Amino acid sequence: MVEKWQLPVNTRWVGRSTYCYEEIDSTNLEAVRLAEQGEAHGMVVVADRQYKGRGRRGRSWESSLKGKDICFTLLLRPKFRTDSMAGLTLVMALSVRQAIKDYCHLETGIKWPNDLVLQGKKICGILTELHSGKSQSSYIIVGVGVNVNREELPEEIENLATSLLIESGRSWDRKKLLVRILERFEQNYESYQRHLDMTELIAEYQACLVNIDRQVRILESGNEREGIARGINPAGELLVEMPDGTITAIYAGEVSVRGIYGYV
Ligand code: BTN
Repeated sequence: MVEKWQLPVNTRWVGRSTYCYEEIDSTNLEAVRLAEQGEAHGMVVVADRQYKGRGRRGRSWESSLKGKDICFTLLLRPKFRTDSMAGLTLVMALSVRQAIKDYCHLETGIKWPNDLVLQGKKICGILTELHSGKSQSSYIIVGVGVNVNREELPEEIENLATSLLIESGRSWDRKKLLVRILERFEQNYESYQRHLDMTELIAEYQACLVNIDRQVRILESGNEREGIARGINPAGELLVEMPDGTITAIYAGEVSVRGIYGYV
């Protein structure tokens, strides 16, 4: 069932139009369908559960339990060129982190580019997609999944993933957290837009980057390299010091980064 309602957000354009589903295949897929029908910049699709949740690099995203997670997708129709869009996924990671801190008073880390971790395990994943659009200009959808009130995770991911409830011992109001995420995102997006990069946000992002000064393995298709993560540049690329001392900038769309001793 779909309801169209307004979230109690204190924003100018994020979440002013919201579609809310009890269940759906994927909020990212639905956001594309709505974007193709002409929905505006800032529209949000929320679902209580997804039966075809999608993750990065062609993986699935487990979000099939009713009433436990936050699953939403935000539609963006930026005025700027598509080559300045890569950092938006980092902007969303920072916004979710800030919202969890504001509302739950929990300090999460960011695993580049956009996973949030608590006690070394993932609690939030973000899937950002650029679409060229049939009738209108390009648009971006940013899909966010947060493990909020799950008592346990499926066995195959329990060593890698956790939830806010597991780590804090209490449940949380998902709507309040979602509202805070959207409010934080709007503020951060406007900072991003002033320079079309992470210039204003880089210090805060790096302060919570769990990879910093740690050995990382860069997984590209058919190729693996190792180096030490040293931070990000304003474009949001990870700066990795290679064994020969050179610094390589890694673009998030192309690779996945793993710690050499585990997920982080
Ligand atoms: C990842 O692999 O870490 C990204 C996971 C993104 C999951 C979210 S849940 C809401 C939105 N809809 C989807 O199908 N995926 C994203």
